[in-house]
Amino acid sequence: MTPLLFSRFRLRDLTVRNRMWLSPMCQYSVVARDGVPTDWHLVHLGGRAAGGFGLVMSEGTAVTPEGRISPEDTGLWNDAQAEAWARVVAFVQGQGAAAGIQLAHAGRKASTHAMAQKRDGTISAAEGGWTAVAPSAVAFPGLDVPHELTAAEIAEVVAAFGAAAARADRAGFDLVELHGAHGYLIHQFLSPLSNFRTDAYGGSFENRTRFVREVVSAVRESWPAGKPLSIRFSGREWAPGGWTLEETAELARRLGPLGVDLVDVSSGGVVAPQERVTVGPGYQVGFAQEIRKLSGLPTAAVGMITEPAQAEEILVEGAADVVLFGRVALREPAWPLRAAAELGVARHAAPYPTQYLKGAWPRTDPVRERRNADR
Ligand SMILES: Cc1cc2nc3c(=O)[nH]c(=O)nc-3n(C[C@H](O)[C@H](O)[C@H](O)COP(=O)(O)O)c2cc1C
Repeated sequence: MTPLLFSRFRLRDLTVRNRMWLSPMCQYSVVARDGVPTDWHLVHLGGRAAGGFGLVMSEGTAVTPEGRISPEDTGLWNDAQAEAWARVVAFVQGQGAAAGIQLAHAGRKASTHAMAQKRDGTISAAEGGWTAVAPSAVAFPGLDVPHELTAAEIAEVVAAFGAAAARADRAGFDLVELHGAHGYLIHQFLSPLSNFRTDAYGGSFENRTRFVREVVSAVRESWPAGKPLSIRFSGREWAPGGWTLEETAELARRLGPLGVDLVDVSSGGVVAPQERVTVGPGYQVGFAQEIRKLSGLPTAAVGMITEPAQAEEILVEGAADVVLFGRVALREPAWPLRAAAELGVARHAAPYPTQYLKGAWPRTDPVRERRNADR
């Protein structure tokens, strides 16, 4: 029996070769602050495609310049960026993987130093930083107070998501994911801990979810009907009074008819954690399971899933439909090939590029293995 991890997964017209997907991870590798992906992105994402992942998701990619977390983030607000992405997409697809892009806007968490710089706070204007925008003029702890978006400015951001999705299509991407988690703009609208608006975008559940529903509709208008759309949510916040699992499930239920095909379930990020977060293997899987059950939509599980048997179990239990891998894929670009060996998948059925077959995980027969090396 083929392990579920190695079974195909279909969303709309896209059939993905397996259920081991690369989680979106910012690389902070853009030069000249122009949002254009570089050879780093080609090698990083291309390497994971060659390593057997079924779908390779780009890092959180900003839909406007102000929506970048850091100046080194990738973007998709102009055609030069789309052209550079097209090269990455073509290579990824050439390896048999599907190419996904996570479209993002950092909101009040924008204009911060790239992770490796180990510097807190907002980047000053003198250093090339910019004023962040948000649902409300309330700062994320340690960052500058953002500008509160007017209704007209909200409409512009919604349109920017739609325009970026159109470019993603032109670049050849197979799937768009919206970043609605980790305390970035979409999540800032959802959470009562960051949205204090008194207009149509704040207050009730209906109003707090208006922005994301508008974004989904705008993206669906410019993203082909045959291509799938996923969304990442923080299934819950680690703070009292925040966005809840039940709200996430209810929102997911409503987003299905608007064109969302899969919910990728993470947690936290809108404020610093105020509850004890029990982080351990698969600590967010239960959220994906609950949302899958309550919303009826397929889900992706993510977070400290590092072992093949553990990942397989998540699918067998029906907690999620696909598994996303983050940090383990940074240290093991060909994690799915190890998984194939550990789960007993035959070499010919594992997603090896032909160029790497000689290095396939060893057969149990040492004589054949020796002969294999001699040739
Ligand atoms: C370097 C790095 C960059 C990340 N960037 C993003 C991002 O752009 N978008 C996102 O949704 N999550 C991002 N994440 C979170 C990961 O996608 C993933 O959810 C998280 O690392 C937990 O999964 P893991 O335990 O398999 O690493 C990032 C994580 C890391 C380590």
